[in-house]
Amino acid sequence: MTQDEKKRQVAEAALSYIKPGMTIGVGTGSTVSYFVECLARVKHLIDGAVASSEATAERLRRLKIPLVDLNSVHEVAVYIDSSDEATRHLHLIKGGGGALTREKIVAAASRQFVCIIDDSKLVNVLGRFPLPVEVIPMARSYVAREIVKLGGQPILRNGVTTDNGNLILDVRNLSILEPVKLEVTLNNIAGVVANGIFARRPADLLLVGSDDGVRILT
Ligand code: A5P
Repeated sequence: MTQDEKKRQVAEAALSYIKPGMTIGVGTGSTVSYFVECLARVKHLIDGAVASSEATAERLRRLKIPLVDLNSVHEVAVYIDSSDEATRHLHLIKGGGGALTREKIVAAASRQFVCIIDDSKLVNVLGRFPLPVEVIPMARSYVAREIVKLGGQPILRNGVTTDNGNLILDVRNLSILEPVKLEVTLNNIAGVVANGIFARRPADLLLVGSDDGVRILT
């Protein structure tokens, strides 16, 4: 099975977590694009969808899936999103698509976070994938220097401005053995908006697409 087939398979499986009358959160990326196609089939059943990026909002609009603003809902029942890496402890690295800050907000506001990945993204220790860090433009150099002190190698993602008008540093060389601790440490650097470690609020369920079908890790 190709990686795309696994993404499609796991996106389809996520549909079983969507129940009538729910407000749901929708992530960003290629795996989620497959999920949005599936969601279009049941769009009349849901109350609305909160998008984690402008790109996803556009996709939802095109398929006439009802879009709602996070500020106008009390709670998001379930958030469906993918990740760039995931461990068996359901800790994630996200932000390869640059939407990490809004993704973190929607994940935080959701009762259940169902993460959908293909098995190539399952790792023992986070950090092979460069860790995205969203920074306020004026703090770019300062934040980069602070990250170097932590042992990371930050590289500015060229030509990218986030939906929030900020920049992304992709940080290599971090072996993330204590994800919760590093997530907090990075958040505490002045000028950091969010970082791509999702450990303080991990996924609740990890659906993993593989040659043997969809595995569920909790
Ligand atoms: C977007 O910012 C990311 O967090 C994506 O969710 C993540 O990069 C997974 O994307 P793919 O499904 O395209 O691999």
